[in-house]
This record gives sequence, C-alpha cells and structure tokens, in this order.
Amino acid sequence: MKITSAEFVTSAFERKHWVTGGLPEIAFLGRSNVGKSSLINSLLHRKGLARTSNTPGRTQSINFFLINGGFYFVDLPGYGFARVSKTKKADWGRMAEEYLANRLELSLSVQLVDTRHDPTELDHQLNEWLVFNGKDHLVVATKVDKLSNNELQKRIQVVRSAFGDSEVIAYSSNSGRGREELLERIRSASEKQRDFS
Ligand code: GTP
Ligand code: MG
Repeated sequence: MKITSAEFVTSAFERKHWVTGGLPEIAFLGRSNVGKSSLINSLLHRKGLARTSNTPGRTQSINFFLINGGFYFVDLPGYGFARVSKTKKADWGRMAEEYLANRLELSLSVQLVDTRHDPTELDHQLNEWLVFNGKDHLVVATKVDKLSNNELQKRIQVVRSAFGDSEVIAYSSNSGRGREELLERIRSASEKQRDFS
C-alpha cells in the first residue's frame, strides 16, 4: 500500500472529541516507550507527525491521523508507566479501555511489544482481551534493529510462544524492517471494514 497522504486530525482527552464519520480505524497499543508513535511515523515516512520521546508517557491522549483520506491511525497512550500520577494512570485505563471496548470503527488492533523484554502482565492481559473478544489484531515485535540475528531468532520465538494465538511481525522503525508486511495487513483490514458499513 502506498501512503499518499497523512495528516494529524485531533488529540482527544474525552470520548466526545473522537473523530466522527465512521471511517475504519487502526489502533496502536502497548506499554509506554515501546515505540508506538515511532512506528506510526515510520509507516507513514513522516518523521515528526506522531510525537516521540525517550521519556515514557509521551503520548497522553488519543491521537487520530487521517491516512489516504480513507482510514485513521489511532495512537493511544502507553500503559504500565509507573511515574505518571495515579489520576493519569486511571485516565489511561478509562480512555483506552473505553476506546477498545466501544469503538465500532476499530478494524485492526496492532499490539506492540519490545522484542528484547519478556512480555509483562499487562501485555498478556491486553492480548487475552483481544483474542477473547474476537478483535482482528496482530502483535508487532519492535526495535529488532537492537538485536543481532542470532538474538532476534531467539527473542521472536519467545514472543511467538507468549502470544500463541496471534500473528507476529518483527519490526524496526529505524530500518523499516516489517514495514511492507504491516502496511499490507493494514490495507486489507481497512478495506474489510468498509464492506460491512
Ligand atoms: P509513549 O507515547 O510514551 O507510550 O511511547 P511510544 O510507545 O509512543 O514510544 P516512542 O515512539 O515515543 O519511542 C520511545 C523510544 O524508543 C524513542 O527514544 C524512540 O526513538 C525509540 N524507538 C522506537 N522505535 C524504535 C526502533 O524500532 N528502533 C530503535 N532503535 N529505537 C526505537
Ligand atoms: Mg507515543
């Protein structure tokens, strides 16, 4: 799939600010700092479109990007970041859970995990929720450029067995590895939704 246009549309702290119009949405989920915003920029070949940071907790609202005029990328805040206040953490839960549970436009959930680290309890919970609720989803193992080929083979096996029911794609926002495969998956998910609407 070729990206012909990509624009930031809105940053929503509340449900009433979610975009309207019923276009399909592709959501990016995962713990803080795993690379959600970087992955969005790398898919779009647009460096600063989604804001990234070395400090976990950068994305604190739900950000909508209109792609090719036909569907949205949805950048969600990361979970599991201990240094945000209790209220902010509760907000993450409220915002992201509300979005996941209710959003009819949600066509594909892209769950990111850091290839170098063992999945956390929250990673497992999210994955089980997606599987249990029959959501079209896949797991993206990020930052693979930080591993040697040998390590990568081993770590990908760990990710695959941790999320046995899910498709897994190895990805690097730095090298672009996995980009075409993921874009293809996104294209087919965004078209499938349109048939039902
Ligand atoms: P929150 O918004 O805080 O939830 O984080 P996020 O998941 O959006 O992560 P973000 O994209 O801001 O990236 C976090 C850090 O990881 C940044 O310093 C990125 O440069 C780095 N990073 C992201 N993806 C990759 C990758 O594929 N390879 C390498 N080497 N670094 C990456
Ligand atoms: Mg982010």
